[in-house]
Order: sequence, then structure tokens, then C-alpha cells
Amino acid sequence: MTTPASDHPASYLSALFGLDGRTAVVTGGSSGIGRAIAEALARAGASVVIVARREAELAATVTDLQAHGCRAASVSADLSSRESVRAAAEAAAEPFGEPDILVNSAGVNLRPPMPEIDDAVWDTTMAVNLEAPFLLSQRYAPGMAERGYGRLIHISSQQAFRAFVTSGAYGVSKAGLEGLARSQAEQWSRHGVTANTLVPGFVLTPLNARLQDDPECVQALAGRTMVGRNGLPGDFASAAVFLAGPGSAYVTGQSLFVDGGFSVH
Ligand SMILES: NC(=O)c1ccc[n+]([C@@H]2O[C@H](COP(=O)([O-])OP(=O)(O)OC[C@H]3O[C@@H](n4cnc5c(N)ncnc54)[C@H](OP(=O)(O)O)[C@@H]3O)[C@@H](O)[C@H]2O)c1
Repeated sequence: MTTPASDHPASYLSALFGLDGRTAVVTGGSSGIGRAIAEALARAGASVVIVARREAELAATVTDLQAHGCRAASVSADLSSRESVRAAAEAAAEPFGEPDILVNSAGVNLRPPMPEIDDAVWDTTMAVNLEAPFLLSQRYAPGMAERGYGRLIHISSQQAFRAFVTSGAYGVSKAGLEGLARSQAEQWSRHGVTANTLVPGFVLTPLNARLQDDPECVQALAGRTMVGRNGLPGDFASAAVFLAGPGSAYVTGQSLFVDGGFSVH
């Protein structure tokens, strides 16, 4: 007796997690967590547009994705100004059409002690970490709702929930992102558009390269997890595919901690 095609594990998994025919925009998709997520979504079937500033990193990522047989394109843009975010939103919808999935991973990590936070640090942090995700969502979510399918995924932080290692404006921006996901979930979920956050622990990426120069600090942070190691960008692949895919339709307004148990120690 042969197994009907629809009973095959690959078909079952595809119905839960497959992204064939979907289009995704991933900010910060040229590095670290965003890059791993862009690759995961693309290899799960989505056409992916990555957005960041540096052209060389964007081009290298697109080449890598295409080498996997994926459909990928890039938009170079600085997400720290409203005009530039709005222009990037239009440009990112061009290569493959309006996105079904928006991942906001671009972020800055300016963390001077509280008394030293000036207007520039505050403004840049809020613009890139919070306002760009808001503006991009505002641009794309109504179309997602009209089409009846959308996934808004924001990369948040431990500092959204607890202050440590000079959380400063960064923690405020990430707390704002958590609130943004809940507000978006309230508005869009009944139209098939979910909004959730992924919450990393300490992940070895260029973002915290300076901290990684201190092996004792890196070891101490690994010791705060339950798994016993720091995060790697690839740890976000399956969680992102889950939140982007059809199987997570009833998961919305949530924060999914991908942190090796950092937050529950
Ligand atoms: N690594 C961690 O331990 C950790 C922990 C908690 C949360 N997170 C969050 O995870 C997200 C990704 O961080 P990561 O560790 O993967 O960092 P990363 O490797 O440094 O990547 C950051 C990405 O954002 C882009 N970007 C930064 N500023 C931008 C701007 N003004 N306009 C457009 N793109 C910009 C960068 O590209 P360009 O520089 O070329 O623009 C890069 O692609 C961030 O939101 C971060 O806050 C990270």
C-alpha cells in the first residue's frame, strides 16, 4: 500500500511550516540573527528581501542565499530616519511584491550609562530599534490584513523585561517593541496577521563584538543560561520559521524567549 502524498511527513510539515509562495522582508538580514532568520525563511520557501546599510554585506548574503537555490534580493537603506524607512519600505516591496512576513531585526546597541545618554543616543536608538519597526509595519500590515495572512516578528531583548548591564535607552526601545507587538496583535490578529517577538539572550554576533573580547564575561553570561552556552544566530532559525508559517496562526501578541533559559534562571 502506498502512502497518499498528503499523508507524507514532508507534506504535513509543509502545511505547518512551509513558506512557499510567501514573501518576506527582513531588516538587519545581512548580519547575525537577522541573517540567520533570512536564510531560514528563504530555505523554507519564502522569497526574501533583506534591508540594511552596508552594500557588501547585503550582496554577500544575497549570493549565499541564491547559492542555496533561494529567491533573495536586498535594499540598502539607513533605517534611522523616517524618510529613509519609508523609501526602504517601498523599495523592499518591489523585487517580489508586497510582503506577507516582516521581520524587524535591524538594531543598534548604544549603551552608555544613564547620565550620559544624550539626545543623539536616545534618538538613534528609538529610531532604529522602535520607530522603524512601527513604520514598516504600518506600511505593510494593512495589505497583509486585506490578503488575510501576515506575520510581524520583532527581535526584542532581555532588557525589555529587566534592566542589567546599562540597559539605558536600549532597554526602553525594546520594551516599546514588546508593547508594539501587543498593540499590533490587538488590531490585526482577527484579519490573519499575527504579531510576536523573539527574545534573545546573549548571542554571539557582531553587535556585541566588544563584549566578546572579554572571555570571562562571555563565560559568565553562558553560565547564566540553563543550556550552558551563549546563543548563536542559527538558534533563531526554527523559531522564526514557526512564527512566520501557517502553523502559528493562533499564536499572537507573544514573546518567545530563545535564550537557553537565561531568563528563567
Ligand atoms: N546579539 C545579541 O546578543 C542580542 C541580544 C538581544 C537582542 N538582540 C537584537 O537582535 C537584533 C539583531 O542583532 P544582531 O546581534 O544580529 O546584530 P548584528 O549582527 O550587528 O546585525 C545588526 C543588523 O542591523 C543592521 N543595522 C544596524 N543599524 C542599521 C540602520 N541604521 N539601518 C539599517 N540597518 C541597520 C546591520 O547592518 P548595517 O550595519 O550594514 O546597517 C545588521 O544587518 C537587534 O535588534 C538586537 O538588538 C541581539
